[in-house]
Amino acid sequence: MDDQRVDDQRSGARDPRSVAARIDTSAAHPRGLHPRIDTSVAHPARRYDYLLGGKDNFAADRESADRLIEAFPTMRTWAMENRAFLRRAVTHLAGEAGIRQFLDIGTGIPTSPNTHEIAQGIAPDARVVYVDNDPIVLAHARALLSSTPEGATAYLDADLHKPHEILAHPELRGTLDLSQPVALMLVAVLHFIPDSDDPHGLIAPLIQALAPGSYLVLSHVTYDFVPRETADRLNQIVGSEPFRARSTAEFATFFDGLDPVDPGVVPVQEWRAEHEPQPRPTSAEVGGLAGIARIG
Ligand SMILES: C[S@@+](CC[C@H](N)C(=O)[O-])C[C@H]1O[C@@H](n2cnc3c(N)ncnc32)[C@H](O)[C@@H]1O
Repeated sequence: MDDQRVDDQRSGARDPRSVAARIDTSAAHPRGLHPRIDTSVAHPARRYDYLLGGKDNFAADRESADRLIEAFPTMRTWAMENRAFLRRAVTHLAGEAGIRQFLDIGTGIPTSPNTHEIAQGIAPDARVVYVDNDPIVLAHARALLSSTPEGATAYLDADLHKPHEILAHPELRGTLDLSQPVALMLVAVLHFIPDSDDPHGLIAPLIQALAPGSYLVLSHVTYDFVPRETADRLNQIVGSEPFRARSTAEFATFFDGLDPVDPGVVPVQEWRAEHEPQPRPTSAEVGGLAGIARIG
């Protein structure tokens, strides 16, 4: 792990409005690792970091990702296109849609530009609450807390399986005003929630808690565009990890009852990508879906 990044001077640790000062990443372990970090088993956040070319990953993550790349050689294209969707989505929401509050659940290891950097680059008063359940993300959270003076950021070490805890968390309540619109972001997260954990039931209270004019932002892995053998191979590699790719029709149900934002549910690389380098990668190369809908 790049400890230097954790201690980065860009961090919001001295900012009284940030929670960085309360994140104890030093309580550690000789290598500076958080006691909950198990480096022997592949973790989604670290594997994704590796796919994006980051340095905050370990041998088990790299081995697992390399096996996925072997089965699906354009796996890195998915990761990069997913990240590009996040950038375009936040740009749209902070810009055209005028959103000033973001709840980014399943944040991932900081990857610049992060949600607050994009949003505050457009609206310096934007307020962002990040949530992730992986201790490696917590260990790097300071990089997520470098807010503008006008805006604010906070990080919650919390789990999507407990939406009511997220909503009641004092850091969330101190950072976001839930009487005003919020963009709820679950970007490349819901595929880690199997059907048996009721993903619809987990996001329902979050959606219900948000004011009219809020938005739901989702992206998701799909096997709709890959051969059956590839899908089977990928499922074998992730093995016992909770993971569920969903079809376009299944993914679309997460937006039921909400007002779709143009262009609706589309392959992730196609979402408002007119200004991206052309031609766009194909759906078979990416294997992801995305969409945004307005709440209320
Ligand atoms: C593939 S990364 C996506 C990061 C970022 N949203 C993006 O799209 O670039 C998925 C993240 O979701 C987090 N995650 C998975 N399950 C979660 C849960 N139940 N609660 C909170 N975070 C979760 C993982 O720890 C990981 O950091």
